[in-house]
Amino acid sequence: MYLSPIILLFAGIANSNPVELSKRIKNGVGLTPAMGFNNWNSGLPSSATTALAAAKAFVSLGLKDVGYIYVNTDDTWSSKSRASDGSLVPDPSKWPNGIAAVATQIHGMGLKMGLYGDSGTATCAGYPGSYGHETQDAKTLASWGIDLWKYDNCSPATSGSSQPRYTTMRNALSSSGRAIYYAMCNWGQDSVWTWGAETGNSWRISGDVTDTWSSIVSIASGAQGLAQYAGLGGFNDFDMLEIGNGGLTAAEERAHFGIWAIAKSPLLIGTDLSKISQASLTVLKNKDVISINQDSLGIPAKYFTPSGKSGPVSGQLYPYWSGKISTGYVIGLVASNGAATLSVNFSDVPGLGAGTYSWKECYTGAMGKGTYVSANLAAHDMAIFKVVKS
Ligand code: GLA
Repeated sequence: MYLSPIILLFAGIANSNPVELSKRIKNGVGLTPAMGFNNWNSGLPSSATTALAAAKAFVSLGLKDVGYIYVNTDDTWSSKSRASDGSLVPDPSKWPNGIAAVATQIHGMGLKMGLYGDSGTATCAGYPGSYGHETQDAKTLASWGIDLWKYDNCSPATSGSSQPRYTTMRNALSSSGRAIYYAMCNWGQDSVWTWGAETGNSWRISGDVTDTWSSIVSIASGAQGLAQYAGLGGFNDFDMLEIGNGGLTAAEERAHFGIWAIAKSPLLIGTDLSKISQASLTVLKNKDVISINQDSLGIPAKYFTPSGKSGPVSGQLYPYWSGKISTGYVIGLVASNGAATLSVNFSDVPGLGAGTYSWKECYTGAMGKGTYVSANLAAHDMAIFKVVKS
């Protein structure tokens, strides 16, 4: 049976979400967090070659099959000056056939194309920003066949809140004639989560991620308390993935991916897919973890405190996460303070209550049934349990 996105949106809100439907963006895309690629963290150039290579890798590596769809190009794709009619110009050395031709090829592979811009007068790398050109730029994006627009926050032309600038572009996109996923990137300024859902499909909640465990800890712990603002069609964005870039251990890659996934962040691969290891690819392709991220309820997992344990400490990553999913519940356990055996009684998980439940651990595939789950974890590793009433 086909259920329209709007019906699904109503179902999700009724089940879960405090942000009223009437206040959420209704552009018909991004009901679940975006999954795809963005070249910025990889250091690859913002070019047709990079975008097409990523698109082909999505198909050949099986990433498309598990849900990675958006092929996004970040800052530095354009020429330094606008055309005489004021329109944005793709750098001809990076886009010899223009952008529309690349979008057509990407669409031909069953994928979508994303592009980057800025709400100020210049992007963070000094290329033209959209301030004062919003309507014209949104029409250009639509004419090229762009499906996602990441909108940055450098070089503001006005002081004060960024909300009006982001709202202007939302209105321009919605009048552009094309459904374009709107990825807001104001680094969590101006309490963006309080107006994010009515403005865009996702909003960055922090400064830029780096390829270090301390950065993963900082973003994940800072996200605590923001889960209530996310829901179908609008999500907290923890920033692009660093998996495959060499700064994290295999255990840390599992935790990074797992937290981003269960907290319903967009999952944007940020590494050179021509060089990715089998181990990193296996993490990115974990279908159970992805199913939690893409769950039809859109409810982010958040911290809970098991009885007898001390509560979260600001700035530190807490080991215990849980959240409702359409098939039951997810429980995430993170060995944030070093190797540990972590256990949780189901009776301590908000919403679950005492009783016997069946579980599956997503990374090992282990399955069981009982009144608790337990995981013996290496430092910074993560276990993710999908739990159903038995
Ligand atoms: C900002 C954003 C990054 C990236 C760069 C590009 O720092 O937060 O994600 O887009 O700009 O210059």
